[in-house]
Amino acid sequence: MAHTVTISQEALRAQREICQQIQSYWQSRRQEPLAWVDTYGCQQNENDSERIRGLLAQCGYGMTDRSEDADVIVINTCAVREHANQRVFGNIGALVHGYRRHPGQIICLCGCMAGQPEVVERLKKSFPHVRVVFTSHEIWRFPELLRQALLTGKRVFATEPSDGNVAEGLPVVRGSGLKAWLSVMYGCNNFCSYCIVPYVRGRERSRRPEAILDEARELIAQGYRDITLLGQNVNSYGKDLDCGVDFADLLAQLASLEGEFILRFMTSHPKDASKKLFDTMAAYPKIARVIHLPFQAGNDRVLRVMNRRYTAAQYLQLVDYARSVMPDIVLTSDVIVGFPGETDDEFEDTLRLIERVRFDALFTFIYSPRAGTPAANMPDPVPREQKQRNFDRLVAAQNRISDERHAAYVGQTLRCLIDGVDEQDPSLLTARTDGNRLVRLPGDAALVGSFRPVTITASGTWSLSGRLAD
Ligand code: SAH
Ligand code: SF4
Ligand code: F3S
Repeated sequence: MAHTVTISQEALRAQREICQQIQSYWQSRRQEPLAWVDTYGCQQNENDSERIRGLLAQCGYGMTDRSEDADVIVINTCAVREHANQRVFGNIGALVHGYRRHPGQIICLCGCMAGQPEVVERLKKSFPHVRVVFTSHEIWRFPELLRQALLTGKRVFATEPSDGNVAEGLPVVRGSGLKAWLSVMYGCNNFCSYCIVPYVRGRERSRRPEAILDEARELIAQGYRDITLLGQNVNSYGKDLDCGVDFADLLAQLASLEGEFILRFMTSHPKDASKKLFDTMAAYPKIARVIHLPFQAGNDRVLRVMNRRYTAAQYLQLVDYARSVMPDIVLTSDVIVGFPGETDDEFEDTLRLIERVRFDALFTFIYSPRAGTPAANMPDPVPREQKQRNFDRLVAAQNRISDERHAAYVGQTLRCLIDGVDEQDPSLLTARTDGNRLVRLPGDAALVGSFRPVTITASGTWSLSGRLAD
């Protein structure tokens, strides 16, 4: 495996100096600059945006959520399906009006779309008001890119292909005081044939266990109660480090830290999820008994062409093992409907699989061709309507299963983290079970941030209702 590039402390110090220079730039103009960061896509992107906000704060920017007030706009993009790209193009198109009124405004586009060569070409040609474009590999030097745009007025593109790097110690402004994302690794080596992520996020790079443990200790000391470890495939954690710590070991070390908190993780690839992982989950009460284990398809031919490297039977064995050691484990998954050449018969295997596993929740997607991936060149004779019909059947089947599984919670008393006040009905609190099911319950806002036993009184497809147990 290629050597993981770590950004040196000197290089990071140089970026902090640039942050100082940007602060001075605004001070000399007697202005308090504002920034708006808009995020698409997965939790990795959320976590990257928290780092981008950290860097912007270090440069002296306050935050706003009104694009027209912002001196800097950062659109952190997702490229996983074409729909995500189109939304971003629509939204950056609309930003041109604000830009014309506020010509000093610096509009930046970063994240996974910045790793797609055809997107970069289109931005260069047709979106001249987008001034800075950079991939997720360049976040650590965002201050330098921003300074260049501020001082030269030129457009800045940092979009060279890269295997990626690891930058430790970037500042972070988190979105919540209770729940934190903690990236344990970046990138993906799996090259599932439909997926753009390995092309735009680079190779698998693990953070050193000590760096992760330090960050977790700090989060717990700051009062974070719900920590989610992030990686595209957390079960290959450590393979690039040769330090004898695999993901299950890392989980065990984290779950042994002092303090009241719950640990989650995502995502797990079924080919790498091990018995050791489930045994570790079963052994440590601080690890939530929930796993997001995408199966993508229920048919072995389709799985093979997807390059997933497991069979439906192997997937089921894994689920059976998990349930044998944790009968109450909450299972969620991702599925793609309409992969090139998937027949109706093959799709039936997907339905069969969800009926057999009975997931608590399922994230369902219609296949979207991504330029540069092998699947984009595969013949795809199945009409869109047929894909849509299968998709609708899958969603209907899963909604029934989710309903039934949620109904089974009624009467149970479960530990929940009270995490906020309900936006729609402020007389209610929101909470999460250890299995991450959403619960609404009456209660005092002073309870927010505490773990409480909650008795479930009613259920729906997406959430549960409850009351505090005495
Ligand atoms: N690393 C994670 C998921 C990354 S993307 C994993 O391996 O599970 C999240 C989900 O998007 C995937 O699980 C897949 O179901 C879906 N997805 C990825 N590429 C897609 C495509 N080209 N079309 C439709 N759905 C896709
Ligand atoms: Fe994409 Fe597969 Fe990697 Fe997940 S494991 S990010 S689906 S290539
Ligand atoms: Fe999207 Fe990139 Fe995440 S493509 S799903 S934001 S890794």
